[in-house]
Amino acid sequence: MTNPETKLRPIELPQPVAERTLSFNEVVAQRRTIREIAATPLTLAQLSNLLWVAFGVNRKVGPFGVTGRTAASASNSQEIDVYVALEDGTYLYDAVTHRLNPVSAGDSRLAAINPRQRTVFRSTAPVQLIYVADLHCLTHTIGFKEPGLHDPEIQKSYYFVDCGMIGGNVYLVAAAQGLAAWFHNCDKATLTKSLTLRPEQKVLFAQSVGWPAVAEARQ
Ligand SMILES: Cc1cc2nc3c(=O)[nH]c(=O)nc-3n(C[C@H](O)[C@H](O)[C@H](O)COP(=O)(O)O)c2cc1C
Repeated sequence: MTNPETKLRPIELPQPVAERTLSFNEVVAQRRTIREIAATPLTLAQLSNLLWVAFGVNRKVGPFGVTGRTAASASNSQEIDVYVALEDGTYLYDAVTHRLNPVSAGDSRLAAINPRQRTVFRSTAPVQLIYVADLHCLTHTIGFKEPGLHDPEIQKSYYFVDCGMIGGNVYLVAAAQGLAAWFHNCDKATLTKSLTLRPEQKVLFAQSVGWPAVAEARQ
């Protein structure tokens, strides 16, 4: 169904399939931040694999009787939403249906980079993953009996850690596919507006993904 406000259509992602066969240790050996990223778009297959490894569903039933995901989250609250900014618009990754649902039309990718760094790196990355914590999920998880979930400071530590877990997966899947990844700060105020977030939703970080601009040494 087309989102009438954005005129964008949902993007059905193909089944995730690993395209390269590096050993796990080889992947870890390649993990690094690469900031110079070419504008070449990723294929749908690459996007599919990227998002599935980032925070896809890997078990129908995980802790607390809800789905299991590829990244850990406090009490399996799954409070981090992965927004995917592409050239034509920004989408929200729905892990259960493994598709991208339209959120806003237009190119928000530049706002996913800290203004201070935009001029330094002139990012042309085709994909910006924007990590947003939804506090509602933390306070309404089945695991809410956990005392830490009632304390705003501890909630904060949980959602930042949970975001980092996803970012770590993205670094590894990028290394496995020969792609570049760069975890970074972003323009939170602009993104909060353009993604029309609720007060309970907090923009945390973003991560650029694409092909390395320079055939960087893979040593
Ligand atoms: C929480 C966090 C925030 C980061 N923020 C930025 C950032 O705003 N800008 C940037 O260029 N790199 C950022 N980075 C990337 C780090 O600078 C990079 O991971 C570090 O220099 C180590 O390099 P490596 O990833 O290649 O090992 C961030 C990394 C983390 C984990």
